[in-house]
Amino acid sequence: MEFECILVETKEKVGLITLNRPKALNALNDQLMNELGVALKAFEHNDTIQCIVITGSQKAFAAGADIAAMANYSFMDAYKGDYITRNWETIRQIRKPVIAAVAGYALGGGCELAMMCDFIIAADNAKFGQPEVKLGTLPGAGGTQRLPRAISKAKAMDMCLTARMMDAEEAERAGLVSRIVPADMLLEEALSAAATIASMSLPVIMMIKESVNRAYETTLSEGVHFERRLFHSSFGTEDQKEGMKAFLEKRTPEFKNQ
Ligand code: HXC
Repeated sequence: MEFECILVETKEKVGLITLNRPKALNALNDQLMNELGVALKAFEHNDTIQCIVITGSQKAFAAGADIAAMANYSFMDAYKGDYITRNWETIRQIRKPVIAAVAGYALGGGCELAMMCDFIIAADNAKFGQPEVKLGTLPGAGGTQRLPRAISKAKAMDMCLTARMMDAEEAERAGLVSRIVPADMLLEEALSAAATIASMSLPVIMMIKESVNRAYETTLSEGVHFERRLFHSSFGTEDQKEGMKAFLEKRTPEFKNQ
């Protein structure tokens, strides 16, 4: 498939997707979200890819859902067609890790897309916000749900109700992003984190992702039980044998994803 709104590259075991509608600050329209879904699924099914990075431009990761595209939707358009959000869930089906590398604006759906990734690495110029309230609507791709889980009710309410943007420093303090790097180092840092992940055992990486995500869906005792079962399963992999043997032999493990 030819992509028009994203750029897709591979860097050894890492798949890189760059949102690319610069004139609209990467506003997320139906076409872009469809293309993103296709690219993500292709990486999911590509055996050589072990980690995925999604990034935007220096000015904007994404300035939100495309306001021009949805401005005239009726309730029926939105509800029956589900045009705005129908293709936003594909990323949740991806079992390989997905890192968001965010520079500039991550607003509205842009912030929500970043939060759907497994973690966010931010450039020092990153700005996060949920400004939908200024448009007479509310976050529609998880903002009111993932923000309180990622930061706190107080900050989530503040952001969603006032449309205040959070800079990278505050976002890191609050726990929304895992690291901040100078803007010109963002991609290098994100690709390096992705390469580190990609050097591990893929099935184990997938188990870790599944287990951490379970923390948001269940009670502590159920979550710990789930984790323990996956921990037990890891002993059924050749990679666990190799990882522990390599440690004892003081050498780097060679994981085979088996
Ligand atoms: C469509 C957008 C856009 C958007 C920017 N543009 N954001 N087009 N949808 N979300 C376009 C502008 O119209 C403009 O086009 C060009 O990008 C450059 O933007 P400017 O505003 O001129 O740039 P600047 O002055 O630097 O301001 C940057 C900005 C501002 C602060 C990010 O663009 C802004 O406030 N954007 C909207 C942010 C927002 O409200 N996002 C939430 C959307 S609702 P022209 O043609 O004039 O050059 C949402 C709901 C999600 O996301 C629901 C789940 C699906």
